[in-house]
Amino acid sequence: MLSQQELKQRVAAAAVEYVLPFMGADVVLGVGTGSTADLFIDALALHRQRFKGAAASSERSAARLAAHGIKVYDLNEVQGMPVYVDGADEMDAGLNMIKGGGGALTREKIVASVAERFVCIADESKLVERLGAFPLPIEVIPMARASVARRLELMGGRPQLRSGFVTDNGCQILDVAGLRIDVPASMEAEINNIPGVVTCGLFAIAGANVALLATQQGVRELR
Ligand code: 5RP
Repeated sequence: MLSQQELKQRVAAAAVEYVLPFMGADVVLGVGTGSTADLFIDALALHRQRFKGAAASSERSAARLAAHGIKVYDLNEVQGMPVYVDGADEMDAGLNMIKGGGGALTREKIVASVAERFVCIADESKLVERLGAFPLPIEVIPMARASVARRLELMGGRPQLRSGFVTDNGCQILDVAGLRIDVPASMEAEINNIPGVVTCGLFAIAGANVALLATQQGVRELR
């Protein structure tokens, strides 16, 4: 029986195999944040001569890439990327996701938006029938924390401030339990429209294009 850590290592290795055909001397790859993304970075480093560099969705991933000798590009310097690889906290069969457990959701959504395809990498415990058991992370401008929280309560949520946490953008995170997510893309748009919300952790308006899911039997690909 493989441990969760071993499953993450397998899917990280599978993700590197997936991106190899996209590599080239002028190619910048998009790299996400989290424990699975960390393992992807470590595996990617073995091929660092085969691509130009990476754009990272967090300071944490940027530091890890740089420590491996992979050049990190500011997103403003990057015209496009063939692929963005990142983990998820939950994913459904339609490849809608909840992200932001690591608090990097805004930069994740930004970097992903520049890439041609989003490859979600996870162990199969992240695949759910319906999104929402994992409290939805929402990045907020600090002065709007209370007003956004009240609006989320009206939507049926139970927001909780992520204590002692400041995002790479100098903002705060509300983790919202209890939301009934019937149509993920509609809820994403509704929450993103609340004044003071920077980003909501639903990735449904633009979900993943491909998911690589590590199972005890091997890595499954979902499209
Ligand atoms: C960070 C994220 C991560 O992708 C998500 O939390 C999954 O992390 P892990 O790979 O550690 O399970 O969205 O903001």
